Amino acid sequence: MDPRVLAVLGRGVVPLDLPLLRADDLGVSRGDGVFETMHVREGSAWLLGEHLSRMASSSARLDLALPDHTALADLVAAALQAWPSDREGTVKLVCTRGPEGEGPPTVYALVTPIALASLTQRRAGITVVTAPLGFTADARASAPWLLGGVKSLSYGVNMAALRWAAGQGCDDALFVSSDGEILEGPTSSVVWLDGETLCTVSLDTGILPGLTAAYLLDHAAEAGLTGEYRRGTVDDLLDSSGAWLCSSGRGIARITELDGKPLAPAPLTDTLREILGFAL
Ligand SMILES: Cc1ncc(COP(=O)(O)O)c(C=O)c1O
Repeated sequence: MDPRVLAVLGRGVVPLDLPLLRADDLGVSRGDGVFETMHVREGSAWLLGEHLSRMASSSARLDLALPDHTALADLVAAALQAWPSDREGTVKLVCTRGPEGEGPPTVYALVTPIALASLTQRRAGITVVTAPLGFTADARASAPWLLGGVKSLSYGVNMAALRWAAGQGCDDALFVSSDGEILEGPTSSVVWLDGETLCTVSLDTGILPGLTAAYLLDHAAEAGLTGEYRRGTVDDLLDSSGAWLCSSGRGIARITELDGKPLAPAPLTDTLREILGFAL
């Protein structure tokens, strides 16, 4: 039986095969809308408040009217009530702009088990290839239409980068700017260890403000480290004592190789995963 659970705003939990989107929904025809993917543990969405805040910021940048915080939280809760509380998963909350010219937004929450590949990557780590994004690290600050920092439904470029990485025989990609700065993965943030400092990329580069990376930096002291947002290069990762991609679904995965070059073995991987509360 398909374990996934679907809940729709105003309708509650519905069968997974229920027709849901109209053909002219701008979420489908233009990738116009926002989403959040949250980790599901012990029957709840981890960092729900932070995800809903980020969704509100994303939708403000798109001039998209979201249902209020309580309605979205209730929708997620309704979906999770139909999900076994001892099962790890993700819940994806989607809000499209709705049918062209008419609205209202189409809003739903879909709960899914963690992909097997993600679980494997938590254990075994990942090989990563850099993917040039074609603009400078500062470009998005002065070009709001590039939607820096927005978690929009327009993920075509990100998914293409992942397929391209797979075509190179790698597990994941790391976007780099045209002026040589590391940015983020197509669906993840990059974190690295420089001495006793746990680093992730500065948000003024227009990357998505990753909540998993933020949590790690906020709790770095639990690993005897300090956390810092900074700008970095591929060499910073190659010279680091460990580098990881992290996200709400996969948790944290050690980068074993970057562009075919081995990275340090990163003995802290288990500690960081435990701080985040992800199982192996
Ligand atoms: C482009 C991008 N950057 C970073 C992340 C990591 O964000 P979070 O840790 O909030 O899941 C994601 C998550 O999907 C993402 O799509």
